Amino acid sequence: MTDLLIREAEIKDVDAMAELDKLCFAVPWSRQSFYSEITQNPRAIYIVCENGETGEIAGYAGLWVILDEGHITNVAVRPTYRRHHIASRMLEMLLSCAESCGVTAETLEVRRSNNAAISLYTGFDFHKEGVRNGYYEDNNEDALIMWRRKSGDRA
Ligand SMILES: CC(C)(COP(=O)(O)OP(=O)(O)OC[C@H]1O[C@@H](n2cnc3c(N)ncnc32)[C@H](O)[C@@H]1OP(=O)(O)O)[C@@H](O)C(=O)NCCC(=O)NCCS
Repeated sequence: MTDLLIREAEIKDVDAMAELDKLCFAVPWSRQSFYSEITQNPRAIYIVCENGETGEIAGYAGLWVILDEGHITNVAVRPTYRRHHIASRMLEMLLSCAESCGVTAETLEVRRSNNAAISLYTGFDFHKEGVRNGYYEDNNEDALIMWRRKSGDRA
């Protein structure tokens, strides 16, 4: 896939991000949530992948910087764009932005059954460090808590 631009999310992307979330998650975020994240949350970093030919938003990823920790909020890729390393490219940029903000370790929660996402994160050196039982209210599924730490750092 060519002509894909990975860039910081802007207010103009909010509708597309909310629409994309509906395609990707059982409990999607509202347009208002994305709007607040982008305009009012100074700790949030959001990036999108834009199709340069059509302007379509193919994916987005977000992270909160909390002191020296980065909390990944979401990574989502439109179904028709999957398996073209878009999530990987967005994650790479997100982690590099986080590191330039002083982040030394990143964490996230992922559904136990989400093999695609677990495999993506494992490829970025995230490791399972815990479980939140029944964390997801829609189906009572467990969340795996994954961390990526600089080598030598310990939990
Ligand atoms: C998870 C998701 C973001 C992956 O996006 P993507 O752009 O297709 O991922 P990439 O192409 O960058 O894949 C990177 C690696 O992740 C793994 N992976 C991705 N999709 C996979 C799948 N369906 N099955 C198994 N492994 C998968 C592979 O190891 C892949 O590397 P490879 O293609 O060289 O084998 C996408 O499937 C998605 O949006 N899912 C719905 C939303 C979601 O669950 N987000 C995560 C919330 S925690």
